[in-house]
Parts: sequence; structure tokens; C-alpha cells
Amino acid sequence: MNKNTVNEKSIENKFKDLNIANKDLSIIILAAGKGKRMKSDLPKVLHKICFRPIIYYVLSNAYKLNPKNVFTVVGFGRDVLQQYIEENFKDCISVLQEEQLGTAHAVLSVEKHKKVLGKEVLIIAGDMPLLSYETLLKTLKFKHENNLNAVLVTAIAENPYGYGRIIKNNEGCVLKIVEETDASPKEKAIKEVNSSIYCFDTDILFNYLKRISAQNAQSEFYLTDIIELISAEKKYSIKSYIIDNFYEVEGVNDRLQLSKLEKKLQRKINEKLMLSGVTIRDPDTVYIDIEAEIGKDTIIEPFCFISGKTKIGNNCVIGPFTQINESIIGNKTNINKSFIQGSTIGNFNNIGPTSYIRPGTVTGDNVKIGACCEIKKSIISSNSKVPHLSYIGDAEVGSNVNVGAATVTCNYDGFFKNKTIIEDNVFIGSDTMLVAPVKIGKNAITAAGSVISEDVPQDSLAIERTKQVNIVQGAIKFREKKKNQKDNLNK
Ligand code: UD1
Ligand code: CA
Repeated sequence: MNKNTVNEKSIENKFKDLNIANKDLSIIILAAGKGKRMKSDLPKVLHKICFRPIIYYVLSNAYKLNPKNVFTVVGFGRDVLQQYIEENFKDCISVLQEEQLGTAHAVLSVEKHKKVLGKEVLIIAGDMPLLSYETLLKTLKFKHENNLNAVLVTAIAENPYGYGRIIKNNEGCVLKIVEETDASPKEKAIKEVNSSIYCFDTDILFNYLKRISAQNAQSEFYLTDIIELISAEKKYSIKSYIIDNFYEVEGVNDRLQLSKLEKKLQRKINEKLMLSGVTIRDPDTVYIDIEAEIGKDTIIEPFCFISGKTKIGNNCVIGPFTQINESIIGNKTNINKSFIQGSTIGNFNNIGPTSYIRPGTVTGDNVKIGACCEIKKSIISSNSKVPHLSYIGDAEVGSNVNVGAATVTCNYDGFFKNKTIIEDNVFIGSDTMLVAPVKIGKNAITAAGSVISEDVPQDSLAIERTKQVNIVQGAIKFREKKKNQKDNLNK
């Protein structure tokens, strides 16, 4: 009979326990399949949910178990997949499955690494983004606490369509798994499904894998057939471990499941943040990266996208309609309807509406970047303001600087990006063109509408414009002339 429980207390000691198990554990992630039902040129596991590829979630949970090694079986679209793995999980070994002949065949392609495999192997299909680390941990514990040679993780599915069904005898022992395409109507009615998570003693796994044939509706080598082979011989102990959360093992097979699981994950991430003290007014419209951190009493208004390893401080108001990617935001900062990328924003800043802060920007405390501004790779020091319609690029702006409306740093001459330096307490008049490289010294003022192409010494007033002429009665004469022209035309 299934003793389908895991001692919850012992999970608290996970790290202590794992130190014993780790050096004996290898993990194999199956990701070679084409994912036919995705109808895509991209490997299925590289499709993203909540900003990250599906395989990211599986690999990062695998590594939390601190195993001896992790192998990912790649095949379809292997170049892009292998590149993603190398760039993001450098310890992971990619193993090529030249032809995708089925899940058993995929696991067999790791056999050439058998010498470095631990005593047990955890196999996980790479298409389950919601699978939690806790479930993997409990699976290992279930195997150890029940002294099993093999365990397969199953779940009860309301709609089991598409999954392998678990066939048990009257005592509840697993006899075999039947795939959807091979199942009889009676078998199709079974709601306990295969999750595609298994843990085997390594020797037993490879011993039985070789005996699997491809005699089934899809002519594939099914990993699922190993269960029947092992249980028929009655030599080894094998049990199913039924988990409660079916959604954790729901695979992404088509784009409907992709969007359904993204919603589910988005909800989970947002709920965790809300319970930690973040207000999210309309969680249905807010997407936050699993690696983002947000401080207490920060309010996330509707329609926000917070991606990458972004860190937002306490008491901020973010949004509505704001996108923040790979950035650090201080405390008590408000960002309204703006896009911030790769930047570090200080405390007490006010940004937006509709401003674009591009990578490499750093702001001090109490900075204002108002409406419709673009700031690129620039430092804006404390207490400075760029309130309206400006472009500031490759600039160093000191503190207490006021940049007038519609100011532009002309940083690019068609060949080089040039620097603008604006020192402390400078007042830049509206519509100043700062033709870089150029430096405006401390306390200087530039007059509105000036094109500043030479350095301005400290405490100076720079004016660059032609002298104004006022023609007395000129407006009246102008209007008369134009009216006559129009009347003549209409005759
Ligand atoms: C598989 C299981 C099914 C289970 C379901 C759970 C088999 C035969 N069936 O079905 O019992 O209910 O998962 O999600 O195992 N892959 C390879 N190489 C291959 C074929 C597949 O690496 O030759 C990889 C895929 O990339 C994927 C994983 O194995 O990540 C599962 O393959 P998939 O085609 O999604 O299997 P299912 O039909 O969902
Ligand atoms: Ca699947």
C-alpha cells in the first residue's frame, strides 16, 4: 500500500538531510522534444512565462536540491537551448538526443555519463514551470523514508486528457502507466495521472531502460513503460507519490496551457509579495518576475511589469502603467506611467508620467524626472530636476541643477557619443541645446533657447541667440497684408 505521506517536520531540516543525499543525486531534465503542439520554431522549454523561459524554473529548482550534477537532454532547437543553459546555468551539462525517439530514449542518451552519475537519478520533464522545489524535496524524502528503489510522482487531474494514466492493482500498487493514445475508454476514465517526475536507483534505471520497446500508438520509446517492467518482476520496490497540487505538474504542451500557467504563476508570485507587505491593487494586471524583490508598504498600481532581478525599496508607488526591468529603486520613490531599464534610482524620486530611463542611469536622492523625458546612461545627482520634455544622454549632472523644459544634450555627432558635464547649482534655461562634449561650470546659467557648444565657466551666464527686434504696429500691418492676399484670391 502507498504510504503517501512525507514527514513535514523533517522537511524543515532539509539542508541537514540533503547534505547526506546530495552527493548521491543526479538530475536529468528532459527537454529535447519539439513540442509539436506549440507550433513553434522555438524549443518548447524556451517559451517564456512571467519573463523567464519554462526551463529556467525547472533548472533553478533542480539546483536548489544541491545535487551532484544536472543533465539537460537537448535535441530540437538545441543551439538556442544550449546557449541559454550555458549562459544561465553554467554547471549544467547538455546532452544531445540526436533524434527524438521518446522519453525513454532521451534518458538513455545520458548513459554515456554513467560513471559520474550519483546512486540515484531524479528525472523531470522540462515543461513544468510551476513545479516547486518543495515537491521535488518531498519526492526524494518519500523514496528514502519508504526505502524504495523507485518512485513516480502522480496527481489527481480533474481533466486527465493527454496525460499517462496510472494503473494500480486492488492493493494500490502501481502496475503500469498507459498513455492517452494507447488507453482504453475504461483507462481513460482514471484521474490519477503521471507527472513525468521520477526518482530511480541509477543501476535499476539503466538496466530496465534498455528493455523498453517502441510498440505503441506513437512508435516511441516511452519512459513510462519502465514502471510495468519493474513492477512485473517484483524484485524492486516502486511506489507512486501522489501530490495535492495538480497544477504543479501540469506541463505546457500548447499555447493555451502556456497562458493558463503564466496566469497561475503570476498569481502565486503576486500573492507571496502581498503577504510580505506589498499592496498590489489589481493583481490580474501586474506581472512581476520571480526574482524581483519589493519592499514593505510599496504600492503597485494596475498594469505594471516588473522584470529581471529588480529591487524596489519601501513605501514606493509604482504605476499605473509602468515597466521596470533589471533596476534598483530606492525608498519612497514614485514612478508613474514610465519605463525604467537597467538603472539605479535613488530615494524620494518622482519619475513620470511617460518618461523613459535607459540603461546605465543613476539618480541620487530627491530627484525629479518629470513628463516625457528620456534619460540615457547619465548621472543625475541629488536634488536635481529634469521636469519636462528633455533628452539627457551620456551626461553627468551635479546636484541642485534645474534643467529647463525641452533641453537636449546633443551627445551624438554621427560617429561618437560625447559627454555633457553640468556641475552643481547650474540653471539650464528652457530649450537649451548642449552640444557635447561640453561642460557647464558650477552655478552657471544658460539662457533659454541657447545652443551651447563651448564650455561655460563657473558663475557665468551663457546666452547664444540673435538680438530681438520689435517692429512697432508690425502685427497689424502683417494681418492687413495677409487678409488682402486672401480676398484677392477669393474674387
Ligand atoms: C509525458 C508522459 C506522460 C505524462 C506527461 C506529463 C511519456 C511517454 N509520457 O507525456 O505519461 O503524463 O509527460 O506531462 O513519457 N522529450 C525528450 N525527448 C523525446 C521526447 C520527449 O527529451 O524524445 C522531453 C520533452 O521535451 C518534454 C518531456 O520529455 O520536456 C515530456 O515530453 P512530452 O512530449 O511533453 O510528453 P507528454 O506527451 O506530455
Ligand atoms: Ca508534456
